[in-house]
Amino acid sequence: MDDIRDYTIAQNWSDYSADEHAIWRLLFERQQHLLTGRACREYLDGLEGLRVAADGIPDFRRLSDILDRATGWRIVAVPGLVPDDVFFAFLAQRRFPATCFIRRRDQLDYLQEPDVFHDIYGHVPMLVNPVFADYMQAYGEGGLKALRLGHLEMLARLYWYTVEFGLIATAEGLRIFGSGILSSAGESVYCLDDPSPHRLRFDLRRVMRTQYRIDRYQETYFVIDDFAELFAATRPDFAPIYRELAVLPDVAARLPGETRSRPARKKEGPRRSAARV
Ligand code: PHE
Ligand code: FE
Repeated sequence: MDDIRDYTIAQNWSDYSADEHAIWRLLFERQQHLLTGRACREYLDGLEGLRVAADGIPDFRRLSDILDRATGWRIVAVPGLVPDDVFFAFLAQRRFPATCFIRRRDQLDYLQEPDVFHDIYGHVPMLVNPVFADYMQAYGEGGLKALRLGHLEMLARLYWYTVEFGLIATAEGLRIFGSGILSSAGESVYCLDDPSPHRLRFDLRRVMRTQYRIDRYQETYFVIDDFAELFAATRPDFAPIYRELAVLPDVAARLPGETRSRPARKKEGPRRSAARV
């Protein structure tokens, strides 16, 4: 096991240029507009609570102090993708590893790696929610266990279809809680408004068997009813579930023979090492 401290770097907040802060503001304002009526209440409350204002790229220390008081989570700066075991170990210790760099102006809609906008704007507000905060820590612990058991692929799908691309059913209608959607202008509209993708009720075993594509909008979204229900469904020991599912075939994101229009090319990409299989 790598020492997670070796992967922590300084954010050097004062080194960001005026143009880098301006790119943040551009992305921020575009999403603020789109996410009203689309993001779930827990996310919007978290964003407000963090005062991750439109000012510019936030200082991780300032943000961590607020987040720490809310749920005991802190943000640590990392150079980019970290190995899976390091990523899980961070989460298990209520540390969220965030990338420092921001995308260039010609990458507003699409980039390969997670940047500071995806990691902070997309992920951190959800960590203000106590239930989601506990879920992420439990996921880190579950990740270390899945690695030991050799079933990371199944657990990574759970991360992908909840933390990154999850939807939640509310009295007002479907809302977004997945960070990969929340930081993407194109997919935050597509996932709710486009008739093409499946929107299936969350089912742990189905999620763990369902393949996904990282280079286009999702063909399948899973919908939870509330975060307590998600956490309850993931609380059981996964070891017997891994064994049960290991002998079953994978499920394609789009079932064979389906002819509905193909999803649009991806416009913005979250790339978390734990989600990469
Ligand atoms: N219950 C899971 C296990 O036994 C751990 C886990 C909890 C994973 C919550 C993801 C989310 O591995
Ligand atoms: Fe992510």
